[in-house]
Amino acid sequence: MTYLEIAKTKFDNLKNKKDVLILSVESSCDETSIALVRNGREVLANIISTQIEIHKQFGGVVPEVASRNHIKNISTVLEEALAKAEVSLQDIDAIAVTYGAGLMGALLVGVNFAKTLAYALKLPLIAVSHVHGHIGANYISHKTLQPPFCCLMVSGGHTAIVRVEDYCDYHLIGSTVDDSVGECFDKVARVLGLSYPGGPNIDRLAREGKNVVKFNYKAPLQNTYNFSFSGLKTAVVNFVHNKEQKNEQFSKEDLAYSFQQLVVDELSGKTMNACRELGLDKLVVAGGVGANSWLRERLQSDCEREKIKLYLPDLKYCTDNAAMIGAIAYYYVLNGIGLADLTLTAKPTVNI
Ligand code: KG4
Ligand code: ZN
Repeated sequence: MTYLEIAKTKFDNLKNKKDVLILSVESSCDETSIALVRNGREVLANIISTQIEIHKQFGGVVPEVASRNHIKNISTVLEEALAKAEVSLQDIDAIAVTYGAGLMGALLVGVNFAKTLAYALKLPLIAVSHVHGHIGANYISHKTLQPPFCCLMVSGGHTAIVRVEDYCDYHLIGSTVDDSVGECFDKVARVLGLSYPGGPNIDRLAREGKNVVKFNYKAPLQNTYNFSFSGLKTAVVNFVHNKEQKNEQFSKEDLAYSFQQLVVDELSGKTMNACRELGLDKLVVAGGVGANSWLRERLQSDCEREKIKLYLPDLKYCTDNAAMIGAIAYYYVLNGIGLADLTLTAKPTVNI
């Protein structure tokens, strides 16, 4: 039998196997991560080697540098993951990998590593969308969570409201027409002189602000579930440049506070409307911006008022990690989707 025939047979048989152990690989941006996840919910190991300190000196992720560091780290990350989980390569049922969205060179490192492992071990290779992975993070944090639910997807690459009808059945309700909310956090942080990644630093600074700063901005795209963040980003950048040119002082804390308030208003307001209109009483948050303390608090109180049950991923599963890829890969297996052959390649963008 060829590799693909063996992989296909094993893949199909996994649906009926009691325990499915998936080794998952994530390398879409600046974290090299490998996890071992059982039955989509139980994390045996989730090793993350972050490159934040390396990219900090450049003010953002340098794609070529990210790829090189993935190559440098990935074998050690695998060894650590196997040791932490106390399993051997022979115990694994399938290899899952993020094939997109992300940086092309960075993704290719993970994809080629996973292909090699799958071929050498004669195991099914499962191609996973990073966006689905962020949703999957919630199945780890909330063991009994099941679709249907409404999902607010807020990451560095995506900003969207999604109706999740079933584990692998997604319907886009609205999305950003320009920048993602994560990009907007990072750009605003940069103009305020905060280091990369900007989101957590804005989050911290905003906690010290208390006065609303008025700047030239009016929230666009009312009466739709789509978002637009580039106008807000430009308004903050113009405000800061203007102050600098005139040599006028301003409070960075208050500016971060005001910016974050506008973002959170926009995200929570539209999401509550969507839940109401779709008749969904469960809201799931996904992606790195889901770690934002203010967004988490605001969604808690808005959901309480609207009688919606809120599911927030644990902070460690909000940002990029391989466990979330292994979690959703299990549901790909149960739904018979995602089996890839050795021609699998990386994709810089994917649709939800
Ligand atoms: O989901 P993620 O780790 O990567 C992508 O798939 O894009 O999201 C990264 C984004 C970055 O823009 C980062 O600044 C933002 O998430 N982020 C935050 C916070 N923590 C991470 N944004 C706001 N507040 C935070 N606490
Ligand atoms: Zn991500």
